[in-house]
Amino acid sequence: MNVLITGGTGVNGAVLARLLLSEGDRPVLFDNRMDFSLIADIKEKVDLVEGDILDPEALRRAISNHHITHVAHLAALMPDPAEANPRMAVKIGAEGTVNVLEAARACKIPRVVFTSSKAVYGEIIGDCGHPKFVPVREDYPQKPADLYGAIKVCCEAIGNYYRERYGVEFVSLRFASIYGPGKEVRHGALSFYGQLIEKVMRGEEVNLPEGGDQVNDVMYVGDVALSIRLALRVERLHHWTFNIGTGRGSTPREFVTALKSLFPHARIEIGPGPSQLGRAKSSYCIFDISAAREHLGYAPIYDVEKGVCDYVETIRRLRA
Ligand SMILES: NC(=O)c1ccc[n+]([C@@H]2O[C@H](COP(=O)([O-])OP(=O)(O)OC[C@H]3O[C@@H](n4cnc5c(N)ncnc54)[C@H](O)[C@@H]3O)[C@@H](O)[C@H]2O)c1
Repeated sequence: MNVLITGGTGVNGAVLARLLLSEGDRPVLFDNRMDFSLIADIKEKVDLVEGDILDPEALRRAISNHHITHVAHLAALMPDPAEANPRMAVKIGAEGTVNVLEAARACKIPRVVFTSSKAVYGEIIGDCGHPKFVPVREDYPQKPADLYGAIKVCCEAIGNYYRERYGVEFVSLRFASIYGPGKEVRHGALSFYGQLIEKVMRGEEVNLPEGGDQVNDVMYVGDVALSIRLALRVERLHHWTFNIGTGRGSTPREFVTALKSLFPHARIEIGPGPSQLGRAKSSYCIFDISAAREHLGYAPIYDVEKGVCDYVETIRRLRA
């Protein structure tokens, strides 16, 4: 399998690249930012292509030069940069996705796996919200609460059209909240768990007045990579859109316990109750991952303890 990963040097791209390498593939990382901080350990073992998904020729060249057979399309602007630069966010999202799909069509790439998000649903209310947390299925109404979510809805629709019209198998993976190495630097405020882990690693004190019991489906990047790899590889798909998470709720308190077992002297205090985090619209939820289990064979392997351990080890390895 020769995989091109758009946005390949990012948080999720780096972990996907590592997983593919461990299975004997040599992925091609296509990114307009040659920042090697998250791939320092594998830089020599992958192919790096500096290019913009807004440049159709660059995409096509990368695909044909590297005999690409599969595309994982991750490149995007995250919520804050998208709000700061709406035109560019829409361009990278919509036009970038069309460019990827056109290149796939022209080069006869049968399948494109797209990284979507829980943001397509927007606010999670009713039985699926606090306090019942009935698992959210893929048919939950889509009412994106921000531009990022609206762009994901748009990209999914474009991809679905290409599948129906041109037969490019477009698979959308809607991820729950993700934590993983690099998110703290890249995604700032969105990386609550990354900040928690990295502050403890730096020996800093963490003191939050509330939120220790906030339930949410929080997944580790290792499971993100696993699900993308499955979606790329699985044969004869008949289902195209999947919620991907852990299928269970975890709380910040569980992260504190995992951190304290690794760093017994950590100074962490998080008060009880749900988190307010200043959000007007809450998207805390638990994903129903039964469709991904059935059609992709997806089964998450990282519980909180394992995820936190891998996070800490990866950061140490990258900074060694
Ligand atoms: N991190 C999360 O919590 C989360 C949750 C749900 C979905 N996702 C999705 O997963 C994907 C990857 O997210 P991430 O966390 O790795 O983000 P990231 O910002 O770390 O990586 C995205 C990469 O895309 C690249 N990129 C941006 N514009 C580009 C362009 N025009 N041409 C080429 N490359 C470009 C960036 O340089 C960056 O390396 C995104 O599509 C994101 O929306 C992330």
